[in-house]
Amino acid sequence: MLCWATDDKAPLMHAEVSVTDRASLQRGAHLFVNYCMGCHSAKYVRYERLVKDLGIPREVLLSNLVFDPAHKVSSTMSIAMSQADGKRYFSTAPPDLSLAARAHGPDWIYSFLHSFYASPSRPTGADNLVFPGTAMPHVLWQLQGIQRPVYRTEQRQDGSELRVLDRLEMAVPGSLSADEYSRTILDVVNFLVYLSEPVRLQRERVGIWVILYLLVLAVIVWFLKKEYWRDVH
Ligand code: HEC
Repeated sequence: MLCWATDDKAPLMHAEVSVTDRASLQRGAHLFVNYCMGCHSAKYVRYERLVKDLGIPREVLLSNLVFDPAHKVSSTMSIAMSQADGKRYFSTAPPDLSLAARAHGPDWIYSFLHSFYASPSRPTGADNLVFPGTAMPHVLWQLQGIQRPVYRTEQRQDGSELRVLDRLEMAVPGSLSADEYSRTILDVVNFLVYLSEPVRLQRERVGIWVILYLLVLAVIVWFLKKEYWRDVH
């Protein structure tokens, strides 16, 4: 008997994210608006945050990142496609990604975007190792290329055979090398981590001042203590 192992959980790859890497966040923002916002919104974030947090000048933001003519710098990163239309087109509406990095964790998203493979029986022509049966098409196939599944056969105890997915191999190369693709995906994941907690950058900046303040305070208190005890002795 030949059957599919569907209960195997694919191991996750590790994403080395860094929300203080501005260059990576800027590249990630660019990729996000070009490759993801056709379907996904990030409606809890306003574009103008990107001006402040990522250091993207207003004019650059307007000409390179804001495509919807109805949008201004003060608009939220919403999209025109309604949830109902999304459901009609893809059977599952593409969710808002503002909080995706918190819901799934960066490793999961990083692995998800690496793990699409050709599956002609699926409506999108693609399936995914870490999210089997996903309704999302492999939107980055031109960059990554198209991977093909390689199966192996395992003998079960009752003598039957089990066909399991062994690995993915590149069938049609994309415009990026494997390393370049991984770096590109890391930028997007980095940006999604930033999106899911935009105040984090601010908090880290404030944190440094708080620590400096405490250090200065400690020195003052130490001198004060010396001063008081001099009279006592
Ligand atoms: C053509 C439309 C389309 C584009 C473009 C697209 N996605 Fe998706 N995405 C979907 C759909 C549909 C789903 C829902 C999949 C499901 O639940 O089966 C989804 C799901 C996801 C999920 C899982 C979210 C969750 O909470 O379950 C993540 C993460 C994701 N997409 C990231 C991205 C990123 C990053 C990009 C840009 C590189 C992108 N998507 C581009 C259609 C799209």
